[in-house]
Amino acid sequence: MKKISVFASGSGSNLQSIIDQIEQGHLAAEIAFVLSNNSSSRALERARTHKIRAIHFSTKQYPDPAIYADTLLQLHRESGVDLVLLAGYMKLLPISFVRAYRGRILNIHPALLPKFGGQGMYGIHVHEAVIRAGEKESGASVHAVTENYDEGPVLLQEKVPVLPGDTPEILAKRVLEAEHRIYPRAIGLVLEGKIKAL
Ligand code: GRF
Repeated sequence: MKKISVFASGSGSNLQSIIDQIEQGHLAAEIAFVLSNNSSSRALERARTHKIRAIHFSTKQYPDPAIYADTLLQLHRESGVDLVLLAGYMKLLPISFVRAYRGRILNIHPALLPKFGGQGMYGIHVHEAVIRAGEKESGASVHAVTENYDEGPVLLQEKVPVLPGDTPEILAKRVLEAEHRIYPRAIGLVLEGKIKAL
């Protein structure tokens, strides 16, 4: 069974969709652990509820960047993680880690990359920008993580319409539902070797 790690800072609804797909037998993978920089994140709670190892991992515990990076790498190596998943993770990964796991780190972004990615494009800001730009459609993108965050190749996208009268919150909800469909699907395709991340 392929092993995955999931990094999440917030509510962890994408984590939940991955857990659900695994438990329903639609995704052949095992979550080795869920890691969060935020000790009170809902994501860690969700992991514990499903008896998945939940790790609070923060720069406060490891102020030395080299030790932080080494610890992260060692944790992955000793757990035999095949694929690293970012799901609403608000911290940058150490560059040495991104290099060591090149082609084996995925992220989900709430817009149709390469549009509306990069600096400042996270959370509700993304949907505000999409509406402000007068876009007729938005969506979710799964992409490979490279050293320049939102620039890694897009592996899978699902479009959703932007409807007249949409608020950023309404659009965010529509996009999030698409995220919950495509992230588990993309993970399965990568783990089965049907798509190559890099
Ligand atoms: C999602 O919109 C995802 O695209 C972005 O962060 C959000 C995480 O939501 N990277 P959740 O914690 O999975 O509910």
